[in-house]
Amino acid sequence: MEQFKNTIIVTGGAGFIGSHLVKRLVKRYPETRIVNVDALTYAGNLENLTEVEAEPNYVFVKADICDEEAMTRLFREYEADGVIHLAAESHVDRSITDPLAFVRTNVLGTITLLQAAQQYWESLPEGYEGKKFHHVSTDEVYGALEPGDGLFMETTRYNPHSPYSSSKASSDHFVRAWHDTYGMPTVVTNCSNNYGPNQFPEKLIPLFINNIRHRRPLPVYGKGENVRDWLFVGDHAEALDLVFHKGEAGETYNIGGNNEWRNIDLVKALIKAVDAELGNPEGASLDLITYVTDRKGHDLRYAIDASKIERELGWTPATDFEEGLRKTVRWYLDNPEWLEHVTSGAYADYYRRMYGNR
Ligand code: NAD
Ligand code: DAU
Repeated sequence: MEQFKNTIIVTGGAGFIGSHLVKRLVKRYPETRIVNVDALTYAGNLENLTEVEAEPNYVFVKADICDEEAMTRLFREYEADGVIHLAAESHVDRSITDPLAFVRTNVLGTITLLQAAQQYWESLPEGYEGKKFHHVSTDEVYGALEPGDGLFMETTRYNPHSPYSSSKASSDHFVRAWHDTYGMPTVVTNCSNNYGPNQFPEKLIPLFINNIRHRRPLPVYGKGENVRDWLFVGDHAEALDLVFHKGEAGETYNIGGNNEWRNIDLVKALIKAVDAELGNPEGASLDLITYVTDRKGHDLRYAIDASKIERELGWTPATDFEEGLRKTVRWYLDNPEWLEHVTSGAYADYYRRMYGNR
């Protein structure tokens, strides 16, 4: 058997951000074994990982993070030194219709994982030395900002509104509790909206690219005035790699793109990019914009101050938004079979329930 210097468990590695992170870690750290633990829900797709699946330092384990026995076994079997925990229910609209699924995976799953890590690491002669538990979280835990309100800092008081953000806030608190109570070396990162290839087409950008391609309506919630900060997924993966390896135990790092957009302006920029790639005249798809009933409890604005990670770890977002958006659009247009695979089966039912035939 191949000998590795150490082992990192990545949970949720078959999802959008997790798959970009796993690919990065597998390639950058050939002496580190990367164990991808994923239950393969509707959002997990092993097709995201074909380029690393044959690498000797990559292992896939299909398991649910809520399964106590499986998680305990996992740490012992792979002698894990670190965890980067991304597995979660991640879509706000789903959390509004099925909140319990979010409590189960995001809260109970995180605690199950913390307990398994604790049990294993505390059984070792060196204890927690050289170990790290990294929880990948969201800026939504901070609540919502008004246009002139400034930015979310690491010190901003938690004020989550949706079942999704409440479940992530809760799991953040539990991760910090394991640091403060048991001395586990933990870090938490809170990031803004990611975009890029392999994102499930329930989220704004991939959903709208796909709809423009098929000339389907683009359901803009409310008046389209909500503001989000957008970050290219590869830049997030780089930040996670850095925080996991260099971040200080007990600390929180905000991650963001310094790139705020009102939804309606973003949708217009997206239409421009898709029309350009499809060879349509400029503005050809603007007629698809359809204002629909607002999301319940829709947070007005998220905006991140990411100066701590820049100051302390030297990270800034590298991808220019126009270029990132163009790359993303190209990827979706070039990979219709990926979209077809992920939109069939369980997702298709959900899609029909949420969007009818839109
Ligand atoms: P995703 O929905 O694309 O992927 C989630 C992955 O977790 C899937 O592969 C799924 O199969 C797996 N999973 C779900 N429940 C599981 C369970 N019980 N056991 C094991 N695996 C399970 O999510 P994403 O957008 O890649 O987000 C990843 C993480 O980053 C989440 O924790 C999310 O809260 C956080 N985050 C996301 C964004 C964003 O913009 N997408 C921004 C900030 C933070
Ligand atoms: O801020 C980080 C968060 O970003 C992550 O923690 C979440 O996992 C991720 O899903 C994302 O949450 P949002 O709710 O901001 O992303 P979403 O793509 O669902 O929506 C972006 C904005 O677009 C939001 O204001 C709602 C709006 N929207 C979304 C959809 C799907 C629409 O107007 N129409 C739509 O059809």
